[in-house]
Amino acid sequence: MTTLVNYRVEDGLALIGLARPPVNALGQPLRAAILDACERAAADASVQAIILHGAHGLFCAGADIGEFGSEASFAAPDLPNLLLRLTALDKPLIAAIGTLALGGGLELALACGYRISEPDARLGLPEINLGLLPGAGGTQRLPRLIGVEPALDMMISGQPIGAGRAFELGLLDRLASGKESLLDDARAFARELLDQRAPAQRTSRFANPAESVAADFLSQFRAANEPRWKSRLAPRLVLAAVEAACNLPLAEGLVREHELFKEAEASKQSAALRHVFFAEREAGRIPGIEADIPLRRIEKVAVIGAGTMGGGIAMNFVNAGIPVALLEQKGEALDCGLANIRKNYEISVKRGKLTAAQLEQRMELLFGTLDYADLADADLVIEAVFEKLEIKQQVFRELDRLCKPGAILASNTSSLDVDVIAASTSRPQDVIGLHFFSPANVMRLLEVVRGKATAPDVLATTMKIAKRIGKLPVISGVCFGFIGNRMLEPYSREAHRLVLEGATPTQVDKVLTDLDLNMGVFSMLDLAGIDVNFLVRNSNRAAFAHDESYCRLGDELYAQGRHGQKTGRGFYLYEGRNRQEDYEVVALAERLAGELHVPRRPVGDQEIHDRCLFMLINEGIQLLDEGIALRASDIDLVWINGYGFPAHLGGPLHYAEQLGLDKVLAGIQHYRRTLGGYGEMWFKPAALLERLVAAGRARIEKI
Ligand code: CAA
Repeated sequence: MTTLVNYRVEDGLALIGLARPPVNALGQPLRAAILDACERAAADASVQAIILHGAHGLFCAGADIGEFGSEASFAAPDLPNLLLRLTALDKPLIAAIGTLALGGGLELALACGYRISEPDARLGLPEINLGLLPGAGGTQRLPRLIGVEPALDMMISGQPIGAGRAFELGLLDRLASGKESLLDDARAFARELLDQRAPAQRTSRFANPAESVAADFLSQFRAANEPRWKSRLAPRLVLAAVEAACNLPLAEGLVREHELFKEAEASKQSAALRHVFFAEREAGRIPGIEADIPLRRIEKVAVIGAGTMGGGIAMNFVNAGIPVALLEQKGEALDCGLANIRKNYEISVKRGKLTAAQLEQRMELLFGTLDYADLADADLVIEAVFEKLEIKQQVFRELDRLCKPGAILASNTSSLDVDVIAASTSRPQDVIGLHFFSPANVMRLLEVVRGKATAPDVLATTMKIAKRIGKLPVISGVCFGFIGNRMLEPYSREAHRLVLEGATPTQVDKVLTDLDLNMGVFSMLDLAGIDVNFLVRNSNRAAFAHDESYCRLGDELYAQGRHGQKTGRGFYLYEGRNRQEDYEVVALAERLAGELHVPRRPVGDQEIHDRCLFMLINEGIQLLDEGIALRASDIDLVWINGYGFPAHLGGPLHYAEQLGLDKVLAGIQHYRRTLGGYGEMWFKPAALLERLVAAGRARIEKI
């Protein structure tokens, strides 16, 4: 017997413990081992019932994601057939679920005749997050067990449910009394079943799942949800599989599910989402720094600045139970900042996400102060003051004077030079950049900016604390704008220039949202504030002093007080949240084009796509070559989590790989040739892109 499962027989019960750490992913070797163990138990006349459990507690996190797209995924025994065999066993088979049962792991439990779980376990079908559908009977068996509506909800949301809810729904037959007692309770349950001469499989609650919902339920569900699915394939395939569950006998439904699963697995969207899954785990690894490096203790945090950003940052720590000192210059601003935080929590209470008692507990962890001396015992200080170098340097000088030795001093700058900020202290090794995205209590991305002198343990501690507060930290080197905002520059430059050449903001934005980006460039600028964008541009004017033409549009809107959504006018006109094209902006673009001698012409959608996206991709590849980003996949994460790039395209660099790097390079060269002086100035292919194409590489990596 292979060591992937532990097998033992006790008093007529076979215990099969899955033992493939860390999460018992159902790769081919584990599937084969489960099958062997079950056949052994089936053939052993002394075995009356079988208990399947996680040998180290955790039951199973599903199929081995690394196998998808390869032959191993369907190598015998494939998961659907393994599970079919389990349903045919003539001895009761009980899944004893510890910690979690996800995806194929839950489908494994569904193929068992009975299920018991520890009370804190989570159960879910998160395949949709990987562009897949449950492909081992889940779409057919779950609706038969708990009804169509809750089953569909689990599959479409991808969100796991707690064991208590699963018990209410009939997904579990029993709840164990505690984590430790799971196996004992499973044994007792097995004995009860044997005493009652219970069948190996109990009959499904909904032999015909269609009867669990109204006749038009699925069509109504589709109509209500399709718009927000945009071009995502997986939700549509899930729905098709559930329709099959409603219309076909189980055996035929399983065949249909398998066809739909194969379609999903072969899709570019699933490949992209699987790339994102592994990218997120890879982002936490820091080359050259051992995983077990001793970390600094972070028990008290201080945030300087109680504005929107500082307040949001403080909330992250408080939410994780870490006390925060919040510093402001004036009592009024401090009161206002604290009141805003309370208001935010009150909204969460209204939405049922927080209790009133939890709100008070969180507010108690916040300590407002006007006195820098109160920061002296903080382990981590995050500065979130006005984005001006001199002001930040001043703050860091003060921190250097006051903070205890070993405290980590972080700047929440979105673009400034962290090395210059660090140089204003006598301890640059303790200084790091932490670029939170707004709203800081909501957005998952955190750019962790490693300065020239940042000590390895400061970086590692920061990555760890970022995860503790629920962020996705991505490491960036020092450059203007770091990874995200530096890439935003050429992307947004093309958008502006295209409007000068004859496109409208609506047309540009539509091309981008048709690609499923959350927002187009111009809606994003209107939301973030044209004034904010103007200030950032001003702090880096030297970089485009040789051609400021494309900035003129934004500069003029700024000068006219059209600062975006907050002033009701920006690139668009706003009535509440509704926006419409503003013909004054179109006329302004025409006038500026005349002054700048930019020829006007109709601009096609493909050109908008190629110019915006190829320049974005090109800058990303350049950042990788310069070593600002550690990996191409880190860049993808930044754009997915900070700028609304669709995860099902895998991020801009994965998207470039799917388009073909030669195509991207050819596009950049085309515009270099055809856009005259402007093309020559800005359409310069990244040297790494040229090297990759010359070497015939399909993947973006540093060579
Ligand atoms: N396949 C392969 N590897 C997996 C895996 C899976 N299903 N789930 C987790 N892992 C790996 C991770 O890649 C990671 O590996 P490294 O340490 O080498 O980076 C390791 O397990 C630990 O994972 P996390 O770092 O994510 O640990 P965590 O404790 O934060 O989270 C988890 C654990 C909740 C299980 C999370 O990993 C997760 O959500 N996994 C994916 C679950 C999932 O989507 N299952 C469905 C798979 S598709 C399917 O089953 C299709 C089907 O119908 C047949």
